[in-house]
Amino acid sequence: MERLVSNWYNHRALPESYICPPETRPGKLSIPSGDTIPVVNLGEALINPSNTILNVLRASQEFGFFQVVNHGVSEKVLNDTMNVVEEFFKMPMEEKASLYSEDPNKVCRLYTSNINYGTEKYHFWRDILKHHCHPLDDCIKLWPQKPTRYRDVIRTFTVEGKKLGLTILELLTEGLGLESGYFKKDLSEAMLLVANHYPPCPDPSLTLGLPKHCDPNLITILLQGHTFGLQVFKDGQWIGVQPLPNALVVNIGHQLRIVSNNKLKSAEHRAVTNSKVARTTVGLFISSSEDSIIEPAKSLTNAAQPPLYRAFRYKEFLSYYFSMMGDTELALQPFKLPFNQSVIS
Ligand code: OGA
Ligand code: NI
Repeated sequence: MERLVSNWYNHRALPESYICPPETRPGKLSIPSGDTIPVVNLGEALINPSNTILNVLRASQEFGFFQVVNHGVSEKVLNDTMNVVEEFFKMPMEEKASLYSEDPNKVCRLYTSNINYGTEKYHFWRDILKHHCHPLDDCIKLWPQKPTRYRDVIRTFTVEGKKLGLTILELLTEGLGLESGYFKKDLSEAMLLVANHYPPCPDPSLTLGLPKHCDPNLITILLQGHTFGLQVFKDGQWIGVQPLPNALVVNIGHQLRIVSNNKLKSAEHRAVTNSKVARTTVGLFISSSEDSIIEPAKSLTNAAQPPLYRAFRYKEFLSYYFSMMGDTELALQPFKLPFNQSVIS
């Protein structure tokens, strides 16, 4: 519990254990939070669906990242969600102590830094609340009881966020030429909520909130609020994801990269800190259940485009992914088919 950044950061210099090695430091150069990450107006899907499909597909192929506006999740739901999660992190430590755990298998937990505080070489400027969302009626009983409206507000956000995720997956299904409903059942059955809290940091140039990683799951929907901090690595450069009012950030995870046989990109991203204000983000990580078999969709492979990955259970991938601390290509290596390694690595 004492390890939570929000517990001790006030008025202290950056401890040495939070300083990243020089090659991963964000440095002092400000990254333009440019308009390069595509913004897709999902409201258009009703009028011109083929154009929306094309926009979502292109963004997923080229960037693995995009923002959506007019996405159907109301401004009230977004504001309530951000407010209740911010309130959670602002509560006194005693109120949150029972949720703190360093056991990664706990279904709902509050922890800090990254995958394993005890074994990592250096730490990250982040506290995390993480919980399962499926099956909802079982999980909700384990979610925080305070703030008192947490469960109600977050239930609505998870239900609406999941609906939006499935809508985007269906647009991708059409864009890729998969059979309708391809992602609807097993592949998108599970969901995790991860709320990230990055307190103001005494030296944002030397540390990271979250290291460079790709998400392991199918697709992620992130409410990033008003504060800049998310960056995407593309063509050897970091690009900032500009906070837009009422937008949600969407990114492709490794599961979807594999099922699409590399037609879609799982982009590397990280979070930087700032010295002025705390930044809070709320992510919904849609994935298959851990026992599901993941493999390239049969209809996307043929003699000319052989499968680039073998079939495996998602839980097998997850344990390897976490042992590699999220390193993108290393995490995928044992799942690639040997014949194709030279083509895709
Ligand atoms: C994540 C993530 C980005 C952010 O939680 O996987 O990439 O800006 N978060 O908090
Ligand atoms: Ni991520």
